[in-house]
Amino acid sequence: MAHLIWLTLVLGLTLHVQAKDVFAHFILDNGANFTQKHWKQDFTTAQAASIDAFALNTGYGPSNTYSLLNDAFTVAATLDFKLFLSLDYSGDGHWPPDQVINILQNYSSHPAYYKIPGTNKSLVSTFEGYESLNDWTNIKQKIPDLFLVPDWSAESPESLVQDSVVDGLLSWDAWPYGNNPMNTSSDEKYISALKGANKPYIMPVSPWFYTDMVRYHKNWVWQGDDLWYRRWNEVLELEPEFLEILTWNDFGESHYIGPIHENELGIFDYGQAPFNYAEGMPHDGWREFLPFIVGEYKNGSGKGRIESEGVVVWYRLTPAWACLAGLTTGNAVSQGQRTLPPGDVLTDTVFFEALLESNAQVEVSIGGNNHSVGWSATPDGGRGIYYGNVPMDNRTGEVVVTLSRDGHFVAQMKGESITTKCPNKLTNWNAWVGSAMANGTNASTSKASLENSGGVTGGRLGLFAWLPVLVWMGLWVAV
Ligand SMILES: *[C@@H]1O[C@H](CO)[C@@H](O)[C@H](O)[C@H]1NC(C)=O
Ligand SMILES: *[C@@H]1O[C@H](CO)[C@@H](O)[C@H](O)[C@H]1NC(C)=O
Ligand SMILES: *[C@@H]1O[C@H](CO)[C@@H](O)[C@H](O)[C@H]1NC(C)=O
Ligand SMILES: *[C@@H]1O[C@H](CO)[C@@H](O)[C@H](O)[C@H]1NC(C)=O
Ligand SMILES: *[C@@H]1O[C@H](CO)[C@@H](O)[C@H](O)[C@H]1NC(C)=O
Ligand SMILES: *[C@@H]1O[C@H](CO)[C@@H](O)[C@H](O)[C@H]1NC(C)=O
Ligand SMILES: *[C@@H]1O[C@H](CO)[C@@H](O)[C@H](O)[C@H]1NC(C)=O
Ligand SMILES: *[C@@H]1O[C@H](CO)[C@@H](O)[C@H](O)[C@H]1NC(C)=O
Ligand SMILES: *[C@@H]1O[C@H](CO)[C@@H](O)[C@H](O)[C@H]1NC(C)=O
Repeated sequence: MAHLIWLTLVLGLTLHVQAKDVFAHFILDNGANFTQKHWKQDFTTAQAASIDAFALNTGYGPSNTYSLLNDAFTVAATLDFKLFLSLDYSGDGHWPPDQVINILQNYSSHPAYYKIPGTNKSLVSTFEGYESLNDWTNIKQKIPDLFLVPDWSAESPESLVQDSVVDGLLSWDAWPYGNNPMNTSSDEKYISALKGANKPYIMPVSPWFYTDMVRYHKNWVWQGDDLWYRRWNEVLELEPEFLEILTWNDFGESHYIGPIHENELGIFDYGQAPFNYAEGMPHDGWREFLPFIVGEYKNGSGKGRIESEGVVVWYRLTPAWACLAGLTTGNAVSQGQRTLPPGDVLTDTVFFEALLESNAQVEVSIGGNNHSVGWSATPDGGRGIYYGNVPMDNRTGEVVVTLSRDGHFVAQMKGESITTKCPNKLTNWNAWVGSAMANGTNASTSKASLENSGGVTGGRLGLFAWLPVLVWMGLWVAV
């Protein structure tokens, strides 16, 4: 009887993950031309943004996978950056189980492979592949120290958490439906199912979504607009065990936050996109406030570091009515959704955020027309991230956003012009992102340089509550 009781307790109280780490999803195919120099640049850039690890998304098949991974792991180890595999079951076909074993045997015990803090368990994730669930019993027997956190959207979290091969879950629900604002309903479903089973959640965070790839029959937008601001507040509210930024370099879906390198946009030819909608559309500014907000997430409210005050601004370069929509829909039939015009989902608006020690004034000028605007949201206590937006109102020309405090200049972002002409005749539904920090750093206008490597290593709490073990030991003694 006593035996039964402690067994129940041990099974019920499995790992309770306390660490909060931040991952970014990296599409290995888009890094096909990477040399060690590129890996070094991206890892240090990610570390400067308080990102702890990359989830390397790799489909089964490409012949260069192992040579890319060898370089990536070699460089990551020298920088104390971490990597783990996210096996993609959707793109190039399903992974044969013996190939999963092969690739994990090769890398899962590498010093640069991401381990769940406080354990020797190597995190492995997936993009889809629920149909292959049964493969994992054998895979985990062959490689005992795996911690499987798949994204299996085909099945409900309630049923997935029951399965003993599943150690946690990643959700891909990072975008709202139509023009509804993003909310946490889906995250809460995951969290409540996972809490009951004491398994961790990887919450997805994404800034944008626009894809137009004839080869993949994909041509839709999901709402971006205020998403990058709103979603991080949801992170702070929910405090999940882990975050995954979707993505670092998925240019074909416009949700990259990493730099764009030369020879990295081959997907637009390969995917038969009608035009290259990432070229000249930097998203670097979206990383600018991550050290602050990740600090708030990891270390608690008020603990985020402000190295420099500054402003981040994003908008589309043409109003929705100016050019053809290119058959792009808002929402996607392929996702079982009712569609609406893309211009009803993405609004003609200039969005901006400022990271401030205390309140400041903001002025937004489009084509020389300077307006003082109010904040739509300010942080509690006045220190932190301020948010605002102004409608384009059919104005065209250069976008300038100026921060000042009591008449003193703080920072100014001079951005790409809004026009009504589309060189390709089609609307580019991707966002242009610019930033200006009070200390003179300027992510969008400074060209990514391979020499640029100064980085701040993201803090790591790395703590695991071994409560279940203690309870187990206590009971053992009691018995
Ligand atoms: C790693 O992969 C290569 C290529 O598939 C294979 O030849 C080698 O045996 C693997 N190494 C380990 C340690 O599994
Ligand atoms: C993890 O593995 C290393 C090397 O095999 C060992 O030294 C260490 O004690 C292990 N740590 C835990 C928490 O099991
Ligand atoms: C959250 O958003 C979804 C999709 O738009 C919607 O169906 C749901 O009702 C929303 N939940 C709440 C609590 O508003
Ligand atoms: C890699 O470079 C080749 C040659 O320039 C190019 O054809 C290919 O599209 C590039 N790959 C990617 C992923 O951009
Ligand atoms: C969290 O706090 C620790 C200890 O003060 C610090 O080293 C680390 O940089 C902080 N993390 C972030 C992301 O600010
Ligand atoms: C300015 O602040 C940013 C952090 O916001 C930092 O990455 C950068 O190195 C700083 N630049 C200078 C010149 O101090
Ligand atoms: C807008 O007004 C601010 C504050 O007066 C000024 O600093 C900025 O240069 C002006 N911007 C433009 C484009 O005129
Ligand atoms: C902008 O211009 C378009 C096309 O001329 C017109 O249909 C629309 O009503 C205008 N919108 C505003 C806000 O003035
Ligand atoms: C930042 O951007 C502004 C406007 O484009 C530019 O004039 C300035 O030189 C840039 N600063 C740096 C440090 O690149």
